[in-house]
Amino acid sequence: MSHMTETVHGGLDPSELAELGIDPAGVLDFSANINPLGPPPGVRQALESVDVAAYPDRRCGALTGALAHGIGVGPERVLVGNGSTELIHLLARAYGGRGVRAVVFAPAFGEYAAAIGIAGGGVVQVEAYEADGFCWDVHRGLEAIAREQPALVFIGVPNNPTGVSMGQADVQKLAEATRGVGLLVLDEAYRAFAESPLDSRPLLATDHVVLLRSMTKDYALPGLRLGYMVAAADVVERTRRLQPPWSVNGMAQAAGLAALQDEGHLAKAREEVRRGKTYLMGELEALGLTPLPSDANFVTVKVGDGSEVRTRLLAKGMAVRDCASFGMPAYVRIAVRRESDCRGLIAALAQVVAGG
Ligand SMILES: Cc1ncc(COP(=O)(O)O)c(C=O)c1O
Repeated sequence: MSHMTETVHGGLDPSELAELGIDPAGVLDFSANINPLGPPPGVRQALESVDVAAYPDRRCGALTGALAHGIGVGPERVLVGNGSTELIHLLARAYGGRGVRAVVFAPAFGEYAAAIGIAGGGVVQVEAYEADGFCWDVHRGLEAIAREQPALVFIGVPNNPTGVSMGQADVQKLAEATRGVGLLVLDEAYRAFAESPLDSRPLLATDHVVLLRSMTKDYALPGLRLGYMVAAADVVERTRRLQPPWSVNGMAQAAGLAALQDEGHLAKAREEVRRGKTYLMGELEALGLTPLPSDANFVTVKVGDGSEVRTRLLAKGMAVRDCASFGMPAYVRIAVRRESDCRGLIAALAQVVAGG
C-alpha cells in the first residue's frame, strides 16, 4: 500500500484559517493533544541562553543522559529525535522497506502507515470496532503477527484517536508473539497523561520492544519538536545511523533539559487534565452525546457528521479534530485544555448541537 497523500494532523492550519477569514489569535486549539499548562516556566529562560550561532550537539548527549538516568537505563538505549514522528520514520526506514510488512493496530496515528508506505513496505491493520468500544481483540493481533511475520508492529498506548489503552497482560502477549519476528513499537506519546500507564520494566528487559515517547506532548513543545525512543542498544544504533546530523536543534535540546528539571510541572498538568476531562465528559453527556472512555488527555465523541461539526465550531473560534482520516467520520477528538477553555468549547458545541 502506498501513501503518497499528505497525512492529516491536528493543530491549526494557517492557510485554512486565512481562507475562512479567521484570525488564528482568536482560536482555541483543541485539535492537538498537548500539556494544557504549556511549557514549564524554566523553558523560556533556557531558550534565551541558547547560542543559535553554534551547531547543536549531534548526539544530544546531555538530554540523552538525563532521560536515560530518569528511566534507569544506559544512554546507549535512548535515541532523541525531532519529535517522535522523526523516530517513527527512521524506524520504518531501518526495519521496513520494499516487500516488508508491518502490522498497525487501528484506528491509529496516521504516521505509522505513512512512514511504512514511504519506506516501501506494506501495512496490515488489526482493526478495533465501535461495537467493542474500540478495544482490540488481542487474539486477532496475535494471529496477524503469526500470519504476516511483520518486521514492525505499531500500537498506541494510550491510543490516538480512541483513548483506549491495551492492558499490560495483552501487551505482554504481543511482546511474546513478536519475539524473534520483529520489533514491537509501543507509542507512548500520551503516557504522561494516562490514568493507567504501562509498567515499562518487563518491556525494557526485552530486546525487541521499542518505547516511543513525546516531549512535544509532555511539555507543550510542538513548535520545537522533541521525542525519544527507548530500545535495545543495537536498535538505537541502527536507527540513529539514518538520522540526519543536527536533526534535534539546540533550542529543543535546551528546552528538554530544562523541562526535565521541573518535576512538579507534569504532576500539575495531570491534575488539570483530570479536572478538565471530568468536566468535558459530564457536559458532553449532558448534551446527549456519548464520549468514548479515555485513558488519555483527549476525549473522542460521536457527533453525527464530524467534519460539519468541526467546521461550525471553527467558525466560533474552537478547533477540534475531525476523525474522518482515522476512518471514524462520525467522531471528533477534543484535547483536554484548562477547565475555563473547556467551558468555552462546551458553550459553542451546545449551540452547534442545537443547530446554531
Ligand atoms: C500517537 C502519536 N504518536 C506520535 C505523535 C507525534 O508526536 P511528536 O510531536 O513527538 O512528533 C502524535 C502526535 O499527534 C501522536 O498522536
